[in-house]
Amino acid sequence: MTVDVQPGPLAIDGAEPVRTDPWPTYDKGDVFIEEEDLEAALDAVRARLYFRYDHRPHAETRTGRLERELCAFFAAPHALTCASGTAAITLALLALDLPPGSLVACPAFTFAATPSAILLAGHRPLLVECDDDLHLDVADLRRRLTPEVRAVVVVHMRGFASDMPAICAVAREHGIPVVEDAVPALGARLGGRPLGTFGDAGAFSTQSDKSLNTGEGGFLLTRDPAVHARAIVYSGAYEGRMARHFDGPPPAVDDLAYPIFGLRMDEIRAALASALLRRLPERLAAHHRNYDDVAARLADVPGIALRRPVADHAYLGEALVFRLPGAGAEATAWTAAALRAEGIDARALGDPGDTNVRAFWNWRFLFPDPARARAEFPVTAARLDESVDIPLSANLTERDRDHVVTAVRKVAGAGRW
Ligand SMILES: Cc1ncc(COP(=O)(O)O)c(C=O)c1O
Repeated sequence: MTVDVQPGPLAIDGAEPVRTDPWPTYDKGDVFIEEEDLEAALDAVRARLYFRYDHRPHAETRTGRLERELCAFFAAPHALTCASGTAAITLALLALDLPPGSLVACPAFTFAATPSAILLAGHRPLLVECDDDLHLDVADLRRRLTPEVRAVVVVHMRGFASDMPAICAVAREHGIPVVEDAVPALGARLGGRPLGTFGDAGAFSTQSDKSLNTGEGGFLLTRDPAVHARAIVYSGAYEGRMARHFDGPPPAVDDLAYPIFGLRMDEIRAALASALLRRLPERLAAHHRNYDDVAARLADVPGIALRRPVADHAYLGEALVFRLPGAGAEATAWTAAALRAEGIDARALGDPGDTNVRAFWNWRFLFPDPARARAEFPVTAARLDESVDIPLSANLTERDRDHVVTAVRKVAGAGRW
């Protein structure tokens, strides 16, 4: 099919949509899974051993094996599997042993789980503005760092890398640790190095729309054996079980000195994750292929600013995010609605008619007054108001990619903003 359609009547006005079949996303059953993954999960069920800390040595458990495989994949010294991405961020912050109630910086553009994890760890989120490309604004971070701020949680939101060398340099100047919320960017790299391995700890999720899909789940990477040991205990390793994670003597961490929060991963999920990890490079290549194709074919559309990565290829490619500079929230929401009418799952991040939890002013647990919250972080609010977000599944076909390109060109061609 040809994709360079002339602007014509739009589906939102009652014309024929670009597509009528559902846009592929995980919640419509579009999962990247093969027979071997099903076999691995079934094998774990048949084994009748579902708890990671039973009589078997660590290396013979599926969680233990997965942790070794994750260490190899990410070239990380320590990996701990756990219950979710939120759990992984929380465990990282707990394991850093910050004073209770510390301020922890995080970007204003993130999923509600990031500030939630900061709260769960007993700390207070301090938001930092994002730049035109929705990356954490390093200059704003520097401005907001007071001695009360004891850590930074960086987020590689919608799969795009933050500027880790710059952020780590600022954090080092202030002597504070960096946790990467790499949940949306599992497998993405910056300058050849996997995201989640730049900071003191990197948190990942294996929830359904992530590059490893076990329904729920997560893991934490770190270089520091003491951080690893404390995270293991907090996750729910008691009565000496923490020591099983270390080949030699464990670090001097008293496992009775920390509460246990029951954030472990189980054997069935670990089996599925191990099988999926073997084909992760294939999935990552598919994401890049999809994203690069779509982005190249939309680069010249007037009025649209595609999100720019901080470095070449520093993104996962599972989301197409673009801004309509100067369009404002209403016009951007109309654009997303017009794309949905064409059959593409688009959302305007700042849609006033939506309660998108990626828009910080909707976090009522932090901000009872959305207008005041927006006034506190005006740059991020303005950028989110102009941003459209479209999920790009790893399974997109050439026809799907044609559809998204056609729909965006068609809606943009209507010139209504
Ligand atoms: C940026 C970010 N952080 C954390 C999470 C939480 O992950 P989980 O749902 O596994 O707790 C998500 C979920 O999508 C996310 O997008």
